[in-house]
Amino acid sequence: MCHDCASGQANTGPNTSAVSSRRSFTRFLATGAGLTVLAACTPDPAGPVTPSSSTSAASSSAASTSSPSPSSPSPVALATVESPTPAEPVPAHAPAPPSAAAALPRQFSLTDPASPWLVVNKHRPLAPADYVPADLVQPNVPLAVTGEAALLNSTTAAAAEAMFAAAAREGVVLTLASGYRSYGTQVATYNGYVAARGQADADTASARPGYSEHQTGWSFDIGDGGGACSFQPCFADQPAAVWAKAHGHRFGFVVRYPWMFHPITGYYYEPWHLRFIGVEAATDMANRGISTVEEYFGVEAAPGYP
Ligand code: DAL
Ligand code: ZN
Repeated sequence: MCHDCASGQANTGPNTSAVSSRRSFTRFLATGAGLTVLAACTPDPAGPVTPSSSTSAASSSAASTSSPSPSSPSPVALATVESPTPAEPVPAHAPAPPSAAAALPRQFSLTDPASPWLVVNKHRPLAPADYVPADLVQPNVPLAVTGEAALLNSTTAAAAEAMFAAAAREGVVLTLASGYRSYGTQVATYNGYVAARGQADADTASARPGYSEHQTGWSFDIGDGGGACSFQPCFADQPAAVWAKAHGHRFGFVVRYPWMFHPITGYYYEPWHLRFIGVEAATDMANRGISTVEEYFGVEAAPGYP
């Protein structure tokens, strides 16, 4: 089995200000001199991203064409910007930060585990490694698990409830198959993979402790209530996965590890693993045909651990 993702839409609670600020950012993008692409420099995993308007494609050789497809991702695009820290060095090639971007609040950090725009991958561990979300809750959705695995952070939980309900109205059953995973649980999960498959293979499917989105509450795995293809490649063809891939963005979710993007994400296709990044960002990714958060936020590809 496998796990990780994020969700969320939510017009209430902690997401309200985030939505408002994302709108400001979207307006900034839309008004920027015909700007359709804005990329940030590769951020320092240890600190906030330095705002930039330079374009930086993901460093994978797969990211080399402008026609997005599973085998040839778009050289990306947008960029996330965060409030610069005075002590943060500005790369020589980085233009002055746009004032609108510089004013973006901390919740758009690419490194803060409490930010919906957090990018965690094999190059970007969680800090702190033993991070625990402060607002874990159990969403009111069909559950295939109990205990901590049935928990999500509050924003993701609200978005999941909206998405699962929408799917149900369209006759598609979604279940929560694996949500929050503590650092300690990830130790056991990862070690189980290593014992069963060896470390090299384990690293294509399970994050090492301190590197999993599941630990943030922004991600979860879905099932369909039947279980025939749970955590199997054939799950991609099940109604639950097909629906989530097509409609997840309306609720703030992306399929975090898409097919054939492992040179960028570091993991093979996980059609069950959803990640919340917010409605506007997820919808923007869908509209632009951008498949990975690495490309969308302009951070380097992370095919393996350094
Ligand atoms: N399966 C994903 C990569 C995780 O373990 O977080
Ligand atoms: Zn997952």
